[in-house]
Parts: sequence; structure tokens; C-alpha cells
Amino acid sequence: MNSSNEIKTVVFPVAGIGSRFLPVTKMVPKELLPILNRPLIEYAINEAKEAGIEKFIFVISPEKKSIINYFKKDEKLESILRKKNPALLEQVANNLILDDSLIEVIQEEPLGLGHAIWCARDFIDGPFAVILPDDLIISKVSCIKQMIDAYEEHKSNVIAVQEVDTIDISKYGVINYSKNSKNFYFIEDMVEKPSIEEAPSNLAIIGRYILMPNIMNALSTKKVGYGGEIQLTDAIKSTINNDGVVGYKFEGNRYDCGNIVGALEAQLSVAINNSKYRDQVIKIINKSLK
Ligand code: G1P
Repeated sequence: MNSSNEIKTVVFPVAGIGSRFLPVTKMVPKELLPILNRPLIEYAINEAKEAGIEKFIFVISPEKKSIINYFKKDEKLESILRKKNPALLEQVANNLILDDSLIEVIQEEPLGLGHAIWCARDFIDGPFAVILPDDLIISKVSCIKQMIDAYEEHKSNVIAVQEVDTIDISKYGVINYSKNSKNFYFIEDMVEKPSIEEAPSNLAIIGRYILMPNIMNALSTKKVGYGGEIQLTDAIKSTINNDGVVGYKFEGNRYDCGNIVGALEAQLSVAINNSKYRDQVIKIINKSLK
């Protein structure tokens, strides 16, 4: 086996109720809210495709089937476009995931991120990637590809980390490390959503992980942590002495699309960096500021 091709599976935990975006998330999952004309989840899918991922596991709630439908063929729409506007056909046919590659897993109850990952256990047969689509990462090299390369180098669990402002530290999982070299941090402790006083560093966990299958054993204990939920951070922490955990500071810009202002920033930044919209958007911003 070509070792750089070892990781072919990604899990997208997308069962959350999107409380910060209510009321729109009553009807539209937050992962389908648009950044320009594409839903947030499509950016995550493209990031995974660029890394050579071939199996896409969506952990959804029974109410969020529209996320799956987005990636399925729409015969009716395609037939209308074929007759009326064939140039647009490419727009809807290019973002598909073939049925064989798409796995849907239902998380019946919102018991936490760790529980969501555990729900995918039957489909995991080796190291795998996890992408939290809320964290939109725009980078030259796909962020999850960078993480897979880091995994190849260290053969341990790899989690994405980034420095964040102290004031925001309690929104994240936070790492403590024994040493670092280049962009790698050798983790010795992790805390989910610590207070500012308890935070062991300002390096926060960002929603990209490469996990070894052993994580499923750690998650099967169903230990309840912060917020009364089964936390992925706690399960990863419990593997430090066996599999090892490396924090990787990725190259790229990250936008927190899990909140309204972060999603707005992502919209603006993506639009300003797109030659089709740049001038118009700058004009609108200048006008609004007057
Ligand atoms: C989750 C993780 C947390 C991580 C964050 C990154 O938290 O539990 O460790 O720092 O994603 O976005 P959530 O944002 O789902 O509360």
C-alpha cells in the first residue's frame, strides 16, 4: 500500500441543532447555509476530496437529511437545465458524491461530539479524518491534506491547533505540550472548554483531526465530560500514552462559521478574494461605511 494513501475516510459530525443560527436553522441546517453560492459543507467536502478521501461518512440527526440530499443527483433539476440552460448543468452535477462513497449514520440524540464520532464506528477500519465543517479553512494546500502528511510523519493521532485570543479560549479544547518542533506540538494534556485561569496554553483545538481507530475504544466508555456531553477531547486525551497525540499548526486562514459574525467574516473574505465579486463587495462596504 502507498502509505500516503492510507487515509481514505472522513467523518463529518453534522447532527447539531444550529442553535446560534435559529430561527433559520429550524428549516435549513447550518451546514447548508451559503458562502457565496455553495453551502458550507461543500467547502469541507472539497477539502477532503483534495486530500484523496474516498469515503464520506455523515453523522446526522433524523431531521437533517437535506444535507445528504444536497449531494445526490437531482434528476428533475438536471432535466430542466438540460433543456433550458445546459451551461448551468455543470454547477449541479459537479458537487455530487457517488452513492457508494457516501455513508449516512444517524445520531438519534445530541450526546456530544465524541458520541457523534462513536456512531460511525462500524464504518471505520483504519486511521480516519474528522472535519468539523463549522471551521472553514481556506489554504493553499487542503488543511486535511496537511494533517494527513503530519500523520504520515508521526503515526499518532493528529489534531489541528491554532493560537487564539485569551478572551476566546473557553470556547475551545485547549492543549498543553511538552515540546514542539516546527509546526508540531507533542501533547501531554488537553482540556475541553477551560476557564481562562485553567487554560494550559493559548493553543486551541480547531475542527480537523486524524484519529487512529483505537479512539473508538476510548469513546465506547461513554464518559461524560464538559457540558454533560461525551467529549472527543477527553477520549483523545486518554490515548496520549498509547497512540500519542500531536498538535499541528496548519497553514491557512480559519473562519469560525459556528457563529453569525464568523460566518459573515467568511462570506466577506471569500467574496473579496474572488475576482468576480471583489470590486462590487468593496464598493458596497465603502458605501455602507459612509
Ligand atoms: C468542538 C471541540 C473543541 C474544539 C472546537 C473547534 O467544540 O469539542 O475541542 O476546540 O470544536 O471548533 P464545539 O465548537 O463543537 O463546541
